[in-house]
Amino acid sequence: MSVVETLQHLIENRRSIYPKAYTQQEISSTVLEAVLRSANFAPNHKKTRPWRFQILKGEDLGKLSSEIQSLYQQQTPEKLFLQKKYDDFALKMSQTSAIIPIVVQYSDLVPKWEEIAAVSMAVQNMYLTCTAHQLGCYWSSHPIFHHLGGFLKLEENQECLGLFYIGTIETTSE
Ligand SMILES: Cc1cc2nc3c(=O)[nH]c(=O)nc-3n(C[C@H](O)[C@H](O)[C@H](O)COP(=O)(O)O)c2cc1C
Repeated sequence: MSVVETLQHLIENRRSIYPKAYTQQEISSTVLEAVLRSANFAPNHKKTRPWRFQILKGEDLGKLSSEIQSLYQQQTPEKLFLQKKYDDFALKMSQTSAIIPIVVQYSDLVPKWEEIAAVSMAVQNMYLTCTAHQLGCYWSSHPIFHHLGGFLKLEENQECLGLFYIGTIETTSE
């Protein structure tokens, strides 16, 4: 395949793949680092590089899962609380090999929307890198994730825009 064909193939075959389809294998640090590294090549205005990404896996996912469940319990009025939703947070996390919290750092150099746009482009790079490695991934933006600031030790000018789930999937021989 030529470079153009490879790029087109990756763009056209990128999909959001959800934890229930993950085969729960470990992903090597080399591959996860490659996913993280690809984020750094996203365009960004005034070189603010506003993404603040880190890889969570293993025990950290268990801690994240408990934190999300307790945030959901605290933040949801009793009438709206769904036991299935509460259970699903933990189930999805147990099916996932690694999570990258999608954190933006706002500077006062450009408008907020430009920082979010740059972070979104960085997430697309990670999506495409996962596609190339035949990994499943998706951006989950449940509103509860905006309350993860304490758990993630975020600073005043940082915000969590969601979680980027990554997992192994059944692969084709391509
Ligand atoms: C900013 C953003 C937020 C998203 N949030 C969610 C989400 O909370 N839950 C979900 O199931 N999918 C979420 N997605 C994934 C979209 O549902 C998915 O991209 C869409 O269905 C198109 O499918 P595709 O990615 O396979 O092309 C999000 C995608 C983006 C770009």
